[in-house]
Amino acid sequence: MKTIEDLDVAGRRVFVRADLNVPLSGATITDDGRIRAVAPTIAKLVERGAKVVVASHLGRPKGEPDPQFSLAPVAVRLGEILGTPVAFATDTVGESAKATVAALADGEVTLLENLRFNAGETSKDDAERGAFADRLADLADLYVGDGFGAVHRKHASVFDLPARLPHAVGDLIATEVGVLKRLTEEVERPYVVVLGGSKVSDKVGVIDNLLGKADRILIGGGMAYTFLKAKGHEVGISLLQEDQIPTVLDYLKRGEESGVEFVLPVDVAISGSFPDTKTFAPVEDFEVVGADGIPADKEGLDIGPKTRELFAAKLADAKTVFWNGPVGVFEHPAFAEGTKAVAQALVDGDAFSVVGGGDSAAAVRILGFDETKFGHISTGGGASLEYLEGKTLPGLAALEG
Ligand code: 3PG
Repeated sequence: MKTIEDLDVAGRRVFVRADLNVPLSGATITDDGRIRAVAPTIAKLVERGAKVVVASHLGRPKGEPDPQFSLAPVAVRLGEILGTPVAFATDTVGESAKATVAALADGEVTLLENLRFNAGETSKDDAERGAFADRLADLADLYVGDGFGAVHRKHASVFDLPARLPHAVGDLIATEVGVLKRLTEEVERPYVVVLGGSKVSDKVGVIDNLLGKADRILIGGGMAYTFLKAKGHEVGISLLQEDQIPTVLDYLKRGEESGVEFVLPVDVAISGSFPDTKTFAPVEDFEVVGADGIPADKEGLDIGPKTRELFAAKLADAKTVFWNGPVGVFEHPAFAEGTKAVAQALVDGDAFSVVGGGDSAAAVRILGFDETKFGHISTGGGASLEYLEGKTLPGLAALEG
């Protein structure tokens, strides 16, 4: 793969496909990690006199403009981080984009409006995607792929556009891929994986692959309740994917056969309803129960104190850790302790730790941990999982050659 050093960018329009899909509360960015992560690539291009055209998706709009998914607040934040104003185009390939790009002087930056306001971006139809990629290609002379969080998507700006322009891989993707290689090639043992988040079905492929690689797999978050149910425990009104129970049973069996230890919660923090993560209203019926004692009208929302200790002990001697997905509803202080404990165990240990996944990466920062204490905080959730599954990622394949 070519890097940006291989491109002659001075005075040329350089399209940077970034992943600026940041969490927003209204128009307020609650975690700017993804913006900060790609800023050095953009700054390098600015320094070298490129006219930089940055583009990204935000959320999942339905192929037409939808103001709640506007990238306008991101343009402001990107400008603050770069220390230079970022012109915002109010469309992606329309009059505003054309005029804004045409007005760029060398070393200036523009951000286009959300790519997914155009149906062609995510279309399954090659011709429709290609037609949109053609219009994007008109806005630039060169392409830099640096949206690691989106490389698993076969989308116009990720997959089709690099085929239309001389291209290179950006520094963020190069770093991310380098780190993930370390987890797939010569991994230092014990290799411990912590998986959380809500759905088992999102993690099916990666667990399958990890069964041949990891030494221990710690399961928390909403997906843990499907594991507990599979073990015969009642889980009340906790998140449950009944249809995944056979898969989970198969994992547990294969884990036993291959010596991969699955570590499940032994106690959980529960409530009768999902906590209010906007007002942080106190949880009146907060309770900790054994993992086999969840009442029928309660749901598990975090791992309990005994599980926090258990997880910390299972992480203590690790030499490599991959963590994807919060182990509780960390957005509410009553259910943040489990996720904090996992983060703390990584900070305290001496493993090479990789935190993957928008949510867990945001959790680490929102809970106030120092990012530099982790081996690597990935900007990719689905992308890092699919990489570890061994899949070919369209956005990486497109940057080859
Ligand atoms: C992410 O947040 O994982 C990436 O930005 C990709 O977003 P998507 O899942 O909506 O394609």
